[in-house]
Amino acid sequence: MSLFSRILGLSRTARPAAPDCWRLDGAEIRLDLGRAAELKAPGTALRLEGPGLATRVLVVHDAGDRFYALVNRCAHFGRRLDLLESGELMCCSVNRSRFDLEGRKLSGPAKGDAQSLPVVREGDILRVDLAALAGK
Ligand code: FES
Repeated sequence: MSLFSRILGLSRTARPAAPDCWRLDGAEIRLDLGRAAELKAPGTALRLEGPGLATRVLVVHDAGDRFYALVNRCAHFGRRLDLLESGELMCCSVNRSRFDLEGRKLSGPAKGDAQSLPVVREGDILRVDLAALAGK
């Protein structure tokens, strides 16, 4: 990622090509993994943003075939996070704070952890629990 992209805080993580692959259902996101092509392979990530969603969400399919979801805001100045080949997350800003997939801060100026969101996989549906966001 170029310095220019970092100054602008441009994420390299895609939004879904099929925007209707996810929907809000009460206090959770229901993501149809069968339609979210960006998450098909292990070692991929997808960012969910849009009307009705109280915060940006990053969904990760890790190399071990597990799924994670986090509030997609660095705990420094709120820039988006990208998945690295190492399996860590890195903020897209110049200061490059790093986090593990549970959101724990590994390095950088972020003031704390990124917020992890519980996920449950039921076949091709990934449910992301947003209840922890209530009151934030
Ligand atoms: S916004 Fe992430 S390190 Fe500054």
